[in-house]
Order: sequence, then C-alpha cells, then structure tokens
Amino acid sequence: MNIRSTPTDNRFSRQAGITLPIICGPMYPCSNPELVAATSEAGALGIVQPISLTYVHGYDFREGLRYIRSLTDKPIGMNALIEQSSKRYHERMVRWIEIALEEGVRFFISSMGKPDWVVKRVHAAGGIVYHDATERKWAEKAIEAEVDGLIAVNNRAGGHAGNESAQELYETLQGFGLPLICAGGISTPTDFQQALNQGYSGVQMGTRFIATTECNATTPYKQAIVDAKESDIVLSDRVTGTPVSLIRTPYIDRLGIKANIFEKWMLRGQKRKYLMRTIYLLKSMWKLKQAVLDKTGSLDYWQAGKSVAGINAIESVGTIIARFSKVKPQQEFVDSKNGRKD
Ligand SMILES: Cc1cc2nc3c(=O)[nH]c(=O)nc-3n(C[C@H](O)[C@H](O)[C@H](O)COP(=O)(O)O)c2cc1C
Repeated sequence: MNIRSTPTDNRFSRQAGITLPIICGPMYPCSNPELVAATSEAGALGIVQPISLTYVHGYDFREGLRYIRSLTDKPIGMNALIEQSSKRYHERMVRWIEIALEEGVRFFISSMGKPDWVVKRVHAAGGIVYHDATERKWAEKAIEAEVDGLIAVNNRAGGHAGNESAQELYETLQGFGLPLICAGGISTPTDFQQALNQGYSGVQMGTRFIATTECNATTPYKQAIVDAKESDIVLSDRVTGTPVSLIRTPYIDRLGIKANIFEKWMLRGQKRKYLMRTIYLLKSMWKLKQAVLDKTGSLDYWQAGKSVAGINAIESVGTIIARFSKVKPQQEFVDSKNGRKD
C-alpha cells in the first residue's frame, strides 16, 4: 500500500509537477496561449497544441512558448501529434519538440502513431511522455515504446472520440500498471471525483475549458457549448476521416456527418485513404480555424464532447479549477499489488 500525502497527490501529478491532477487537453484550434497559461497558473497542466499556436493564433513556436512563460512559470506540456502524414510535417514536429525541450517543457502528450522516437528524445532530456489511447491495441504500441502513462480517451470525448466508456477503458488499460488519465465526459467536480474513484490518476478536459473567459474562441461558440445538451453532440466522419465530436448546428446538417459513396470508396484503399484524409484535413483545418476566430459566429462549425451536459456558464479557468480542487476522492490508499504504483 502506498499512502498519498493528499488525495490528489499521485504519480501523475508528481511527474507533471502540478498540484491538481487535471489537464487542459490540447485542442486544435482552441488552445490559445492565454488558456494554456491560465490552466497551469491555477495548479493544473496546460498543454500547447503546436499547430493551434502557430497556424491559428499566429505565433512563431518559440515566441509563443516564451509568451506563455511570461504569463506563468508553472509547468506546461506539449502535444506531439505524430501521425506520419508527410516527411515535411514529421520534420516540423521533430523541430517543435526540440524547441519545446530547449524552452524547458518536460511533459508531452503524443497522439496517433507509435511514439518511440518521441519517448527516446524526451526521456534523454529527463521528460515524461503520456500517449493518447482509445483502445488496447494503441496502448500496447505505446507501452512497447515505454511511455510513462496513458490518456484514456473514451466515447464521450471531444475531438477524436474512442469507442469504450470510461469504466470499460479503465478496465481495458489498468493492467499495464501505468497512470491512466480519463479523457472525455468530465465537466463537473462530481465527474472528476467519479474518475478518481474509478482508479484514474487524473482527468483531461477539453470542452469545459473552451467555455472560459481565457479561451479565445468566439462567444457564439462558447454559448453553444453552454446551451448544448448531450444529445446535440454528433460524430462526424467528414472532419478527418475518423469520428470527431461536433455540436449539431444548421451548418453540420447541411454538411452531413457521413462519408458519401465516393469518400467511402476513397477511404478503403491504403493510398486512397491517405489522400482522402489529407483532403478532409486541409478543408476542415481551415474551416475550423475560421469558425474559432470569426467573431460574428456565422460559421457554426464547432467541436465539443458530451461533457457539454455539465457546462452551464462561461467562467474563468481559476473559478473552475478552484471548484474542482475541493474534490475528495474515496481512494486515498492505492494498492500497488494490482500493478498500479501511484
Ligand atoms: C475542440 C477540440 C479540439 C481538440 N484537438 C485535439 C488535438 O489537437 N490533439 C489532441 O490530442 N486532442 C485534441 N482534442 C481532445 C482533447 O485534448 C481532450 O482529450 C478531450 O476534449 C476530452 O474530452 P472533453 O471534451 O469531453 O473534455 C480536442 C478536443 C476538442 C474539444
């Protein structure tokens, strides 16, 4: 038995150097530097999404990191989206990771792909890598690469949703003996408490942090999150080629959420699939950027997860984190015999 000094002090919070085991997940296009900094400043962990920082919010990557540093000296993390889309993208990601390490970032969340090269480089610099896993096979690849923990992305998540519930995914992944972070469906202290009671070491929230004063997303987008019910969240195949959670709006109804016959055919062959996904990405990345920056809110193309159910107001990050910090999980003692060594 390990005894935690406080209910939320565990292996993950110690690795990340934070006081509350909460991550503001990386979000294209919503991760603006002020949001990342405010989360870390409040005692949780803000994660930089490099494409959002540079392409959407217009910063040179190093300057953006320094700007965040000017707002907080607390730890921040970086999202390494390592899908092998092109040689040029891979080289850019290698360079971003180098710059992040030079600027003192030591916590990385890898998504897609096999994170072996990220782990090797980050561990050599004394850092930590957690990998996004929606199912066991992706977790196994990450474990082979010797990641330090897993972000368990469940079927209620914003962004690319998984297939399993938080409980099912916990059961699928807990045998690996690594800290597990619950991503998806968390927006209230009760959700947070439930995840900790299930055995998760922390939570990653996205949607909750969009409806904050520090997020630069437009007010109509934030208000749509506040107004949406869980049943307003739909999964679309037409954003990246794999299901992405969106708020059902008139624009989404016009666009449709299912691949058409031609797209389905394209998505079947290996080479065609790559081409189709590139087409989807190019179109949707530009539109999502427009939708998050266009202050009129006329482009209602908005990502959000089912955690909208618990979001009733646009609030500051500090207010949200203060409310979550009152949570007292039941399990203050964690049995390390079961493979979990918090
Ligand atoms: C608008 C939006 C964009 C996202 N973009 C990314 C991304 O670029 N990389 C990533 O790893 N996860 C991304 N995610 C997933 C989040 O980091 C997080 O895991 C997820 O939002 C958790 O579910 P929740 O929205 O119910 O809190 C995104 C989520 C949202 C809502």
